[in-house]
Amino acid sequence: MMKNRDAAHRINRHRPLRVAALAVAALAATLTVAGCASLPSPKELDSQAAAMIKAAFRDEGIAKVDRIQQDLAQSACSSDKMPSPETMQKIMQEAMATVKYPAAGAFLGDWREGEKLAQAGRGMTWTDKTTDPKSNGAQCYNCHQIGKAEISYGTIGPSLYQYGKLRGVSDPNSPAAEPILKYTWAKIWNSNAYMACSGMPRFGHAKLLDEEQIRHVMALLLDPKSPVNTQ
Ligand code: HEC
Repeated sequence: MMKNRDAAHRINRHRPLRVAALAVAALAATLTVAGCASLPSPKELDSQAAAMIKAAFRDEGIAKVDRIQQDLAQSACSSDKMPSPETMQKIMQEAMATVKYPAAGAFLGDWREGEKLAQAGRGMTWTDKTTDPKSNGAQCYNCHQIGKAEISYGTIGPSLYQYGKLRGVSDPNSPAAEPILKYTWAKIWNSNAYMACSGMPRFGHAKLLDEEQIRHVMALLLDPKSPVNTQ
């Protein structure tokens, strides 16, 4: 007991001195900073922060550090200011140029496979063994309502329920249906093509899904026989 009190006393006795020393040090630091001719500019601070973030990550399995490199759309759209109309235009034009339309104009696959993909959110984590799109889900329900039977869905994106029906697609092979097929394909391939700062993954462009998988989710939305359009 006694010993402890002594120890406490010893600390207290030195405290005022230590506080004073700290105050002097802080003052000196302030004066040094105030007297400094050039502080780092916001641009320098940004690049220092970027370097720090880069140094903090490492490759882990299939998740490589290059994932933190941003392209124009990503950097412009995650800035604290809205991109200028010119930048948005550039983003959309560049995105449109990345779109690969399906071979032989075959836009639609099997809506049953599309439903499975839309439900699945797997893939692209460091514990996944491969970056092959075939091992990925499409996770459309995370953001969209689609089929009526699925009552658990996200609402970040608009409802896609009755997508084809509401757009008058009764025969997907007719010339009348082509514009909506092409639009939907491009939207899924690279969502920035129609909205510069879209929050939707760029499925084809980022190699999250391959051509065949995109055909399946297209069928889910646009095949007149898909429950999305029949129910
Ligand atoms: C992370 C959320 C997210 C995911 C996952 C997502 N989307 Fe989207 N989607 C959006 C948002 C937000 C919009 C509206 C803004 C825009 O147009 O980019 C949208 C718009 C769309 C549109 C345009 C709708 C219209 O009326 O023009 C289509 C089609 C679409 N999504 C299909 C899909 C399909 C198919 C999938 C799965 C392969 C999917 N989305 C996955 C967020 C998402």
